[in-house]
Amino acid sequence: MQMPKSWISLKSMTPERFQDLIQKANQIKKLKRVSSRGMPLSVALIFLEPSTRTRLSFERASQVIGASVFVMAGSQSTSIEKGESLEDTLLNIEAMQPDVLVVRCGDDFDLETFSHRLTVSLICAGWGKKAHPTQALLDAYTLSGYFDSLKGKKVLYVGDAKHSRVLSSHFELFPNLQMKMGFFCPPELSVQHSSVTATYFENKSDALNWADVVVGLRLQKERLETQMSWYNFETKYQMTREDLLSLGRSVPLMHPGPVGWGNEFHMNLKDYQKSLILAQVTNGVYLRAALLFELGD
Ligand code: CP
Repeated sequence: MQMPKSWISLKSMTPERFQDLIQKANQIKKLKRVSSRGMPLSVALIFLEPSTRTRLSFERASQVIGASVFVMAGSQSTSIEKGESLEDTLLNIEAMQPDVLVVRCGDDFDLETFSHRLTVSLICAGWGKKAHPTQALLDAYTLSGYFDSLKGKKVLYVGDAKHSRVLSSHFELFPNLQMKMGFFCPPELSVQHSSVTATYFENKSDALNWADVVVGLRLQKERLETQMSWYNFETKYQMTREDLLSLGRSVPLMHPGPVGWGNEFHMNLKDYQKSLILAQVTNGVYLRAALLFELGD
């Protein structure tokens, strides 16, 4: 299969292609370091929005495959402060001839249309509320290491589904991998997809009894358009250790981070034994290393 030049949408991802990718990620994870056959890859990281995991994970992934990295973290002290557009900024960075641009930007920039102008590869590292493809891939990769098969697995989302770019990419990827999606979120923070059939729960115990895995999505209080009751959220929707232990079976817990402890997850889940949250971070390095390695091969 022809390798994509850009990683923004996951709509065309097949289970076979996904298997190829995670096989490569597993190989790299085992070896801890690989080198490409050709010239070392040059990777430009351009992060216009805050990030801890994704930016450092791409830096670490680049180290693992022997790529060189140069970074623009935020617009402060760049010519964006003088009025230069993001489009011009990215075209100038492309002119420095890296092999790959890794970009995090807001919804106001049309990353998809812009990607068609590029002669180098582009990886979306988080695009407003629209997409976070490498997070979705590393989430599925993490689940593939936990379950024998992803087919038919039921993923329950709690927290703020409405404002989540991670969820936007899950909506593209998870149905392709034959996974099922369900929601236990307040109506103000829930979301429907035009072409993905999901299950919506009003009762926590019904939701948890359905779930094979629980995924928390950070409450993005800064993006709330309407007033909502935090007391109601905590008492009805917050996930606690007691909720998960009461099921009498192991239900893994995931979160793309940063976790809103005391919001979507109770503090007492910090040491929940079936948490995969830090495994997601580790896997993110090797999944991203596999993507970069493919682009350089
Ligand atoms: N998961 C994620 O995108 O985290 P950061 O915002 O820290 O990169």
